[in-house]
Amino acid sequence: MKSSIQRDRKVPIGIALRSVCSLQTPFRHSAQSYDCVHVVFIATIFFFLALGSGGSRLLRAQDPTVASTPPMGWNSWNHFAERVDDQTIRAQADAMVASGMRDAGYTYINIDDTWEGERDAVGYIHPNNKFPDMKALADYVHSKGLKLGIYSSPGAKTCAGFEGSLGHEKQDAETYAKWGIDYLKYDLCSLSTEMRKTPTPEDAHQIMIDAYIKMRDALRSTGRPIVVSLCQYGDDAVWRWGLDVGGNLWRTTGDISDHYARMSDIGFGQAGLARFAGPGHWNDPDMLEVGNGGMNIEEYRTHMSLWAILAAPLLAGNDLSIMTPETTALLTNREVIAIDQDKLGKQGDRVTAEGPIEIWARTLADHSKAVGVFNRHEAPLSATVDFRALGFRGTVTVRDIWHAKDLGPMKDTYTVTVPPHGVVVLRVR
Ligand code: GLA
Repeated sequence: MKSSIQRDRKVPIGIALRSVCSLQTPFRHSAQSYDCVHVVFIATIFFFLALGSGGSRLLRAQDPTVASTPPMGWNSWNHFAERVDDQTIRAQADAMVASGMRDAGYTYINIDDTWEGERDAVGYIHPNNKFPDMKALADYVHSKGLKLGIYSSPGAKTCAGFEGSLGHEKQDAETYAKWGIDYLKYDLCSLSTEMRKTPTPEDAHQIMIDAYIKMRDALRSTGRPIVVSLCQYGDDAVWRWGLDVGGNLWRTTGDISDHYARMSDIGFGQAGLARFAGPGHWNDPDMLEVGNGGMNIEEYRTHMSLWAILAAPLLAGNDLSIMTPETTALLTNREVIAIDQDKLGKQGDRVTAEGPIEIWARTLADHSKAVGVFNRHEAPLSATVDFRALGFRGTVTVRDIWHAKDLGPMKDTYTVTVPPHGVVVLRVR
């Protein structure tokens, strides 16, 4: 329909519609040809309405097949920081396969900061000597059925003081595509120095927007689908404009650390952001710390559960080659991952808070709800889930996800004891 209308722009729309309907279709020569004109006309109106509203946002977004669910994978920063090198990446890719994480849905192996070397005489970036051959590394990661991510900054320098992309966006995008990169984390870092030089906050904001758009366009012109992860620590309410500057995900906060206090501040601080996320564009409360050793198992369970209810990217940040069975079990729990990766892509939010007891819920594609009953206190506490407050009427069926146990039909409420800093995750329908 669209192409036949576009071929002759001077044909009035009514005639164009009629000619569409006179094509060899089941409508032809039947009394329904009049209906066809109406159907096509209405469809056209909807098409243009969609362009004028949400549709224009969709057109500005990345390839919709990219990050249609929150990206899952691994990132080097939380555990290895500047110690990451080619061998580390290969070992993590191997471990992602051997541990069963790949089969559970983890896909991206992301190199964070400190891979960058010098630019050559014409301005193309080269990796430093920790990464002798980036293309060969990408081939290796791809051969495992995984994808490779990389990191840069719109500023002149990255946060760790390495070469950023400022003034070389097109060259860098071309280089990433040539290497076979599938994901870019683009971290503000030293661009904030340029932003501080401007007279007003609006000017500073514009510098940042322009910089992200520049990289978005450069990546698009390579023709390679590359997930774009914006990292600017959640400033200027990035969730409102992250999609428009090409982000598939955007950090909503400063850096996470491997402590319950920091993880829970960030995680529970996501309340109210749900409406800004959806397929192809996600709020990112930062990478996982599960398995890094600074939290106990209940705290890591809270971390994993909250991130799943938040439809957050699940980027493991531990050393996958030395995981305990408990860590592997936390990271690969299929039912928790199914909540995170639910196709509807509707981020969950806080429903109630009674002091340190918080109940969060997320609506899933099958109309069930994932419910997290969190205890932020340092001692066990009982909590009561009121199914009516979650929108249910009458009898519900309830499954305890971490215990992998059907609790059977229930009515009105469920009272459960939640461990210190822990969680009970229910799937209710
Ligand atoms: C910033 C980011 C981190 C990490 C470091 C690397 O702090 O927020 O996630 O990428 O830079 O230098």
